[in-house]
Amino acid sequence: MLKGYNTFGISVYAKRFITVTSIYELQQLLKIEKNLFLLSGGSNMLFTKDIDKLVVHIDTKGISIDKEDDNFVYLTVNCGENWHDFVLWCVSQNYGGLENLSLIPGNVGTSPIQNIGAYGVEVKDSITKVEALKIETNKLVSFSNEACNFGYRNSIFKNEAKGKFILTSVSFKLTTKKHRLITSYGDIENELANHNIKAPTLKDISVAVIAIRKSKLPDPKEIGNSGSFFKNPIISKAQFLALQKENPEIPNYPLSSTTIKVPAGWLVEQIGFKGKRYGDAGVHEKQALVLVNYANATGTEIFQLAERIQEKVLEKFGISLEIEVNVIS
Ligand code: EPU
Repeated sequence: MLKGYNTFGISVYAKRFITVTSIYELQQLLKIEKNLFLLSGGSNMLFTKDIDKLVVHIDTKGISIDKEDDNFVYLTVNCGENWHDFVLWCVSQNYGGLENLSLIPGNVGTSPIQNIGAYGVEVKDSITKVEALKIETNKLVSFSNEACNFGYRNSIFKNEAKGKFILTSVSFKLTTKKHRLITSYGDIENELANHNIKAPTLKDISVAVIAIRKSKLPDPKEIGNSGSFFKNPIISKAQFLALQKENPEIPNYPLSSTTIKVPAGWLVEQIGFKGKRYGDAGVHEKQALVLVNYANATGTEIFQLAERIQEKVLEKFGISLEIEVNVIS
C-alpha cells in the first residue's frame, strides 16, 4: 500500500516494493531488474492506479562536504535526504542559497527533476552537478548544471532523460559569506517588516518563508496535496493585454518583452473553484493552485477535478493550464 509514500495520500497498491539505502544496492538491483518504478519523497505524483512494476523506494542518506573556499562551500547530498531537513541544516551551518526553498515537501533527489522553486529562487541557482545511474548500463553518469537543461519547473529529467536514469546525488555550491539574500518577493518583505527585521539572516528568511507557506499551503501530513498542481501559464503580451482589459486586477510577472507569466491560482479562483469540494477531492480554500485529498479521494477523482478546471479556464480565459504534478496513469 503506497498511501504513506505519496503526499497526496492516495491509496494504491504496489505488487512488489523494495527500499534501497545505497547506490551499491541500487546497482545490484539493476543487475536483476531494469523495469522499475522509482519512488522518492512521493511529493510530486498523483497515482491513479496500482503499480505493476517493482516499486523502488530510494532512501539513500548522507551529506558530504567536498571542499570549501573563501566564500563558498561545495556539498554532495544523497537523493534520499529529506529536502526541508537539508535546507534547515544548511541554514544552521550558515550556508546560503536554499533558505527561500524552506518547507518544500519531498527529497533532495527530486529537487532537480522539477527544478523546485519558491519566493524568487529556483534550486538550479545552487546546483553544480547531478549524478545518476544510467539504467541501461548500470554506470554512474554526471550531469553538469548546464546539461540538466533547467527551465521553469522543468529539466532534462522530465524530458529526454525521463525513465533512463536513477538520480543518486545532487551537488550544491552555497555561500558561506556575502550571502545573496532574496527578499524582494512581496510576502517575504511584509513578513520581515511585521517582525521589524531590517537586516535579515538566513534563519530569518527561512523562518519567514515557513510562516508564509504555512499560512497558504496545506501541510501534506494533515491534508493530502502535491503543492501547485498546475504550472503558472506563460502567455503572449498581446493575449495578456486583451485579458487585462477585461480584468484590470490580473496579477502578472513580465518575463520578456513579449511574454508574461500569470498566476494559475488567480485564474482558478476567477472561475469559482477556490475552496470547492467534490467528495474528498477539492481545491484548497487558501490557494486555488493546490488540489487536495481530504481523506479518501482516488487519484482519478483528483485528476477529473483538474480536467474540469482546465476546461473552465480554457473556456473563460483561452488559456491551457499545464499540469505540473506527475500523473501516474
Ligand atoms: N492568487 C490568487 N488566488 C489564489 C492563489 C493565488 O489570486 O487562490 C494570486 C495571488 O494573490 C498572487 C498570485 O496569485 O497575486 C501568486 O500567488 P502566490 O504568491 O501564492 O504564488 P503562486 O504563483 O500561486 C508559485 C509557485 C509555488 C511557490 C510560490 C511562491 C508555481 C506553479 N507555483 O505559486 O510553488 O511556492 O509561487 O514562490 O510556480 C509548487 O510548485 O508546488 C509551489 C507551491
